[in-house]
Amino acid sequence: MKNPIKFGLLGSGTVGTGVIRVLQENAREIEERIGAPLELKKVLVRDLGKKRPQLEGIAVTDNIEEIIGDEEISIIVEVMGGIHPAREYMLRAMEAGKSVVTANKDVVAQFGKDMFEMAEKQDVDFLFEASVGGGIPIITPLKQCLTANKLTEVMGIVNGTTNYMLTKMAECGADYESVLKEAQEKGYAEANPSADVDGLDAARKAAILASLAFNTRIQLEDVSVEGITKITPMDIEYANELGYVVKLLAVGKDAGEKGVDVRVHPVFLPKEHPLASVRGVFNAIFVRGNAIGEAMFYGPGAGSLPTASAVVSDVIDAARDIVNGTFGRIRCTCFEKKKLCSLDDTESSYYVRLLVDDKPGVLGTIATVFGNEGVSLKSVVQTKESIADHAEIVAITHMVEHRKMLCAVKVLEGLPVVDEIRSMIRVENDRG
Ligand code: NAP
Ligand code: HSE
Repeated sequence: MKNPIKFGLLGSGTVGTGVIRVLQENAREIEERIGAPLELKKVLVRDLGKKRPQLEGIAVTDNIEEIIGDEEISIIVEVMGGIHPAREYMLRAMEAGKSVVTANKDVVAQFGKDMFEMAEKQDVDFLFEASVGGGIPIITPLKQCLTANKLTEVMGIVNGTTNYMLTKMAECGADYESVLKEAQEKGYAEANPSADVDGLDAARKAAILASLAFNTRIQLEDVSVEGITKITPMDIEYANELGYVVKLLAVGKDAGEKGVDVRVHPVFLPKEHPLASVRGVFNAIFVRGNAIGEAMFYGPGAGSLPTASAVVSDVIDAARDIVNGTFGRIRCTCFEKKKLCSLDDTESSYYVRLLVDDKPGVLGTIATVFGNEGVSLKSVVQTKESIADHAEIVAITHMVEHRKMLCAVKVLEGLPVVDEIRSMIRVENDRG
């Protein structure tokens, strides 16, 4: 057996604790797989006085220099989260010739370019499997197993909190506020749930997935984002009646000459689509390629041990490279400079729910507006219940450019017979 490969751990919260447990429970197999023992040399903590039973018998420090400056340490695992100082620590670690493993989607989505450039310059590994989909292998498949393909679509349920909330709303008929409260009580949603419910967490993951799938750098600010805060039990009920489920999707499409289309928003998804069956806190990523056809990666999108599974696998990969002397083998794969598809140019079908006056000719007036604006309707339903001389109308369109849909809605809003456009939600991957 070779000399041990030593690594430093930055952070020992949910994921860090999982990393330590996985190493303790699977040490023998990990050593065999690497061809050398893997040793955790030191853990960076913020407060040396805080009790941390998970770190019993492990050396700790509150001084980053003791890890970055330690020549015996060849891999740094960053599981502190946030941008600062995580970004600086990772760059400095690579500058010092160490490979870096991280679960940090914030840094990868916003500063991935800096990270890859430094890794390339220093001939070290920069690995980030846990940054999307927690324990689900998706970064390595995109960077290695699917590289024979031209990928045209990568689409995922990448936020467990919102998928849990939408599943509960669909299955229990609960409203948004009560499912949010429940998700907070269960520890899925933070006290400030904004990153999850407003779609920002999913947007970071969408940027990472699309960059890898389409080999072009997509930044967080390139992703158009809408969260789930406006979804009502009524929309979920209509979705069910019409053969759909409501999901918060991260959507990435290579739309050819129009550019790369990357967005996060709630969608109506046909019940038979593979992503429609993903319930609760689970995540899944669906890809379409010209050789593989369709494939889906499914599993736990968060949690201490599942996320540690991805982090430790990256550490094993980096350690194997050190043992074999093959550093920085899989480099940045953003070798294209594709243009971005503007939101106006994107194409989808749409679900629209309107409150209108309940009198003869209204349905015809609405259909005429859609027709005049170049929006073709697939189906229109007038609800059976009439609410004080008003009725709800639900329309599903055929594929149409977003800009045409916005024009149609603007005209509809100005009609005296239309009281309110209550919802407009994209329909993704509709059948015909
Ligand atoms: P966490 O439970 O909050 O743990 C973070 C740890 O880092 C804490 O122990 C914290 O110390 C420590 N820390 C923060 N800033 C530090 C600093 N400046 N110096 C030293 N230590 C510092 O977070 P987590 O859930 O493990 O998440 C870690 C990373 O994994 C994040 O990037 C997250 O997005 C990613 N991730 C998490 C999950 C998941 O299921 N939790 C899934 C996928 C990806 P204190 O103990 O002093 O607070
Ligand atoms: N907050 C995320 C989720 C987990 O709800 O899926 C960490 O990426």
